Amino acid sequence: MGGIFGVLCRDRVGKGVVVEGLKRLIYRGYDGVGIAFFDGEGKIVIRKYPGHLDVALKHIDLVNIPSNIVLGHTRYASRGWPVYENTHPLTDCSGGIAVVGDGVIEEYEEKRRILEKKGHVFKSRTDIEVFAHVFEDYLRENDPLKSIALAARELNGVYAIASLVKGYNKIYIVNHGQSIVVGIRRDGSCVYVSSDIPSLYGFADEAIVLDENSAAEVGLDNVEIIDIYSLSRVTEVTKKRVKYPVEVIDKAGYPHYMLKEIYEIPEALLRTTYTLMEKYLRLASMIVYGAKNVYIIANGTSLHAGLVASYYFADLAGLTVNVVSAAEFPYYVLENISTGTVVIAVSQSGETSDVIRSVKLAKQRGAVIVGVTNVVGSRLTLESNVYLPVGAGPEIAVPATKTFTSTLAALAILAGYTGLYTGVLSEKELESIYSELRSFAKELGKNIERIDYEANSIAEKLVKWNNMYVVSSGINYPIALEAALKLKEAAMMHAEGIQLGELRHGPMVLVEEGYPIIFIKPFEETALELYSRVANEALAKRALVITVSPNNEGFGSIVRTVGYVSRFIAPIASIIPLQLIAYRIGYKRKLPIDTPPSLAKAITT
Ligand code: G6P
Repeated sequence: MGGIFGVLCRDRVGKGVVVEGLKRLIYRGYDGVGIAFFDGEGKIVIRKYPGHLDVALKHIDLVNIPSNIVLGHTRYASRGWPVYENTHPLTDCSGGIAVVGDGVIEEYEEKRRILEKKGHVFKSRTDIEVFAHVFEDYLRENDPLKSIALAARELNGVYAIASLVKGYNKIYIVNHGQSIVVGIRRDGSCVYVSSDIPSLYGFADEAIVLDENSAAEVGLDNVEIIDIYSLSRVTEVTKKRVKYPVEVIDKAGYPHYMLKEIYEIPEALLRTTYTLMEKYLRLASMIVYGAKNVYIIANGTSLHAGLVASYYFADLAGLTVNVVSAAEFPYYVLENISTGTVVIAVSQSGETSDVIRSVKLAKQRGAVIVGVTNVVGSRLTLESNVYLPVGAGPEIAVPATKTFTSTLAALAILAGYTGLYTGVLSEKELESIYSELRSFAKELGKNIERIDYEANSIAEKLVKWNNMYVVSSGINYPIALEAALKLKEAAMMHAEGIQLGELRHGPMVLVEEGYPIIFIKPFEETALELYSRVANEALAKRALVITVSPNNEGFGSIVRTVGYVSRFIAPIASIIPLQLIAYRIGYKRKLPIDTPPSLAKAITT
């Protein structure tokens, strides 16, 4: 992933324009920043630094650009470590093409091998560099617009590319499933390309939204768009006014990062399915398969993902794994750790000190570490024997949302691969994990506004309460725990996650008229009878009963999630309305949702 921001002007590009554009796109990644432009002789110059824009500004000049054209990028590392070589822009062999990319190119290692045999020389470990070399090959016999289209046609994946080509005073872009827009200024002085529309605020008046599978040649007087398959000209384009106020630009028009990140869940889930690489999944799952005993360790939201994963490993691989808080692990589990133990360490940030400490202690005792994290280059990736990047994109709000659902997807896929070795799953069944995740993501994209609307009316009913229960059973039980955590973090409301049957063993004593209880309808048929018994008991006590359900069936007020077939999707589907309810209560209470008091995104000390 990454953020793309480019500008082409009649005169020299204004000071700080690119920095401002990249600043607005920082939410898309901050593992590296770079620019490409033409020098006085028309040669491509690259300036880049593997770190956050604020740090990069101290090391390289991104402000004074002696050119009328510049292409910038801010990187989220998912393929390739956050080092100089992997920082965009990336070039072809001749240095005549500079590309920046957003997204993932599939099977790039195979493509790279073929290109190397043909004599191409690679400088980075990224997937996007492959694009530069395929582009280079096509450019020998075609013009740049046709070449970028043909390269995109050849390379599978979900990505957007922008590039400069020596000898052409234009920017070439392509949308291969990842958004990219062209910003037009009414006075015609400059034209822009960017990953999103809000970043163009104050620069451009309107934006041309490039459709999927189209490529464009962006010039000062003309934007020519073609379809990458038919290569014919696209004449009908979607134009949008650039109208977001400056203060919400970095949140792409959303009032809070948390809401923005919830709305990004469909895209993030898709990206996770493309980011995880088969060879590492096979390696990690072979390690798990060969283990004497397996522990999952994590904290907070990641611990809840770990708890769900214990169901995944049971269902999809027939394995029992132990899930332990990384804060507890050193105190009572360590003695069981020896050579043959596998520790699956889950951490969104990869920096949580309890996780790192436990990983180090486990390693000292001979354990093998499989890391699952959203941040490549984090301490967890350094300490792991093999790590799986979740690829959800950067998450800024302290309450974790899209990284939770993507971590669940990654863990389901890992369990699925392990199932191949244990003989529980066939290759075809593994394939259907991918296809179900992808079609769920698409369905969710169509339904998220509706879910938010329903969540908002539930939030209205809950906002005056300060205590509540979230109740479920089976694979959705950890989701009750996670929902309660979200309610604490975002709504600052005390909420407790309870197992369905346990509600009757004490907690019911607090239930009075109007007391809110959210039931997450159990996936397991066998638990439905208990659900109906317990919900009726609560209703008899005049509790305010709410049910999160994949259909319209359930007790009390219903929030309908996206329907699903398989058990492994149930927790992913169920948490989304609950994240939105927590957010909407926090919003109504005017709370600092993205940065709850006394809470950090990662506890690193
Ligand atoms: C902190 C955050 C939680 C988060 C936990 C684990 O406590 O406030 O929201 O879930 O750390 O973070 P990690 O980055 O390890 O997943």
